[in-house]
Amino acid sequence: MSLQKAQKKLQDVGFLDIPTDQVDYIKEINRLRKEKNAVILAHYYQVSEIQDIADFVGDSLALAQAAAKTDADMIVFAGVHFMAETAKILNPTKKVVLPDLKAGCSLAESAPTDKFEAFVNAHPDHVVVSYINTTADIKALTDIVCTSTNAEKIINSIPKDKPIIFAPDRNLGDWLIKKTGRDMLLWDGACYVHEAFSIDKILELAKEHPDAEIIAHPESRKHLLKVAKYVGSTSGLLNYVKESNAQEFIIATEVGILHKMQQEVPEKLLIPAPVEDSTCSCSECAYMKMNTMRKLYLCMKYEEPAIEIEEALRVKALKSIERMMEISK
Ligand code: 13P
Ligand code: SF4
Repeated sequence: MSLQKAQKKLQDVGFLDIPTDQVDYIKEINRLRKEKNAVILAHYYQVSEIQDIADFVGDSLALAQAAAKTDADMIVFAGVHFMAETAKILNPTKKVVLPDLKAGCSLAESAPTDKFEAFVNAHPDHVVVSYINTTADIKALTDIVCTSTNAEKIINSIPKDKPIIFAPDRNLGDWLIKKTGRDMLLWDGACYVHEAFSIDKILELAKEHPDAEIIAHPESRKHLLKVAKYVGSTSGLLNYVKESNAQEFIIATEVGILHKMQQEVPEKLLIPAPVEDSTCSCSECAYMKMNTMRKLYLCMKYEEPAIEIEEALRVKALKSIERMMEISK
């Protein structure tokens, strides 16, 4: 079912209007999890309360791996649509629910299927590598899916004489070209959160904190990645602050990661990287933050909105995800 159709179905169901003022969300979510043999998977960018109640918190790769091996009957995906869709592709017989179906992703939206298909068809000799932040339709047109954790390994696994298309994140693509020395054709997509950071303000802040290390997610712009001491996925950034001897960090990624980081290194100073427009909360992903404890409770109670996917599309998309899983073992 398309995202639009599913959203319409959700409006028709209308259960988001049900009053829940008296509900103790923590108690009820714990009860429903047990009663329904559900597992709650949450991304590091979720609000703190959701991270705290989840069975497993991780980055895109770890969450896909956890979804692939769960024996729960219901997967409650506290993340965005493409993540829940990936879990459904891996678990066609299980119920997969997402607290808010409108939780999309600017990167996934930057690759419309018709345009991407035409691009792929125009380069039939290329191996197509797509970031996991894509729709099932794009994954079905892809040879190997990757995440920011395994992207370098996946590009390096492709024979040197094979030309590569990389989509949809141009910043991650650029960074991979630098890391692997491969000349890749890049799709022109971007994450609006990681593009919002201000290099001038970051350098200003670094002057005020001369001992702080700048660390960044590879979805950030090229000039920021150039000055970063470390570039890595969300789990890479988390490990880095744990292992580095530095006591202060300026962190250029979605601000939700600071919750887990601060729990791991309570004694260190973690400073969120400033954004260009100080009037917006652009370092928060508005899609990720659509999920709330109330919506988490409602989706577990009513088992809606559930992710559905046509079987022929699922099978095609699965191949590119399985190739990723195989290479990242
Ligand atoms: P990772 O979880 O792979 O680091 O990706 C970050 C992200 O932007 C997810 O949408
Ligand atoms: Fe998409 Fe960026 Fe939000 Fe991640 S942080 S879900 S890449 S918009």
